[in-house]
Amino acid sequence: MMRAAIVAGMAFGLLATGAFASGDPEAGKLKAAVCSACHGADGNSVAPIWPKLAGQGAPYQMRQIMAIRSEHGRANPEAATMIPMIANLSDQDLADISAFFATQVSTVEAADPDLAETGRRLYQAGDAARNIPSCTSCHGPGGRGNLLAAFPALGGQFAAYSEKQLRAYRDGSRTTDPAGMMRAIASRLTDADIEAVSEYLSGLHQAGS
Ligand code: HEC
Ligand code: HEC
Repeated sequence: MMRAAIVAGMAFGLLATGAFASGDPEAGKLKAAVCSACHGADGNSVAPIWPKLAGQGAPYQMRQIMAIRSEHGRANPEAATMIPMIANLSDQDLADISAFFATQVSTVEAADPDLAETGRRLYQAGDAARNIPSCTSCHGPGGRGNLLAAFPALGGQFAAYSEKQLRAYRDGSRTTDPAGMMRAIASRLTDADIEAVSEYLSGLHQAGS
């Protein structure tokens, strides 16, 4: 357990600091126009098929962009629509754009209160009987993530998008998670768990942590 945590920590250290050039948010604001049709001018996309990027950590964004671009780790029909749109951008352009979206503030959705309450309990406490850890331990009580450690922000994200990702970890089609940590957790989640926790996240304000 301890050893796994240390190895994961080392992996994140490398991923978060060593892998990509740091971006310039001012330059990124101008370059982000190509992303805005899907992700919104400020990283708050208008439809759940497109994840919100506002407030998302830049190192996490860069890792996902590379996975989508190389079709390695999260290839799917929706992700495929992004690939031609970023074909003419350099890694520095992408780093600048990610840095820009990281400075923006995510909007929040109106979550169904009953479903969100079920999701809140799982998010905050996990379920020891089923070996499900609390989500707050990595993603934070307000869903802001740990941006330096490359734990993504989840608060305010569209429920349909979070659901799709949790199912993709569960069925093994998304393999971007270091040490398989989200695949291990998602394999213990039922459909009802996934729906409830995703609903809760959609209404969780990132400022709350
Ligand atoms: C044609 C629409 C489209 C355009 C344009 C587009 N994307 Fe995407 N993007 C998507 C879709 C769809 C996904 C979700 C893929 C999935 O479900 O696996 C995504 C996912 C992402 C993710 C992963 C988010 C997460 O929470 O894991 C990042 C980061 C991202 N896009 C960045 C960008 C950037 C930067 C640009 C502009 C340079 C861009 N995208 C342009 C459609 C688009
Ligand atoms: C041990 C740390 C850890 C725990 C505990 C954890 N996560 Fe994660 N989660 C991660 C990491 C790291 C990623 C990014 C993995 C990747 O790059 O694909 C992630 C990704 C996600 C994503 C995809 C985000 C996106 O933008 O695509 C969702 C949704 C998610 N987690 C939900 C949960 C839920 C719900 C729980 C609790 C049941 C949970 N996580 C518990 C570390 C954790």
